[in-house]
Amino acid sequence: MTKLVSPSILAGDFVNMERSVRSLKEWGADLVHCDVMDGVYVKNLTFGMPMIKAIKGISELPLDVHLMIIKPERYVEEFCKCGASYVTFHPEVSEDPLGALKTIKANGVKAGIVLNPNVPFEDWAHLLPECDVLLVMSVYAGLGGQKFIPETLDTVRKAKAYIAENNLSTLIEIDGGVGEKNAEEVRNAGVDILVAGSAVYKSDDPARTIRIIRGE
Ligand code: DX5
Ligand code: ZN
Repeated sequence: MTKLVSPSILAGDFVNMERSVRSLKEWGADLVHCDVMDGVYVKNLTFGMPMIKAIKGISELPLDVHLMIIKPERYVEEFCKCGASYVTFHPEVSEDPLGALKTIKANGVKAGIVLNPNVPFEDWAHLLPECDVLLVMSVYAGLGGQKFIPETLDTVRKAKAYIAENNLSTLIEIDGGVGEKNAEEVRNAGVDILVAGSAVYKSDDPARTIRIIRGE
């Protein structure tokens, strides 16, 4: 399938979020990656449902909501109702990851789990049949602008093999430190959706950067 680019608004301008979101459409992005952080699972606090709803109101692109929160099952349905097209969460801090995936899908939204670099793929592979997307973190979740960890591509390769062996249609997404320099390697490892925050928003020519990351 054609690769998708999902720029993270975490690297956008928080004083002018409307401009930051609308620009993504103009630059040719495919999705809008929204990083929800709770100050508990990760140190940072970002934003929650009201922000997702507001962004949905002005975005022509689908919203890709990445939940970095503990007990995500408490909120997944509300995030779906706020207009998310994808909702992903970290399964090791969920008391009912399978239930959370099912709830998301029951709301007509694409569901997935997110694996931090220290979370073994093998521990969660059994959930892949229920996942529309697997988000592999290529940095430790919590902060934009970090350096890409190349070893995380091993997880992408393992997941790719598992998906093929089991005849699944799960997409693989990667998040953290992705930019023009490593996008090709990332795509070749089998990634379908590439998240990029700083690489896009800090670029002198974001439209070009998005095309390069997508591999055009
Ligand atoms: C990190 C976030 C990422 C981050 C990506 O916790 O999940 O989405 O914003 O930003 P860059 O591309 O700058 O690493
Ligand atoms: Zn993210």
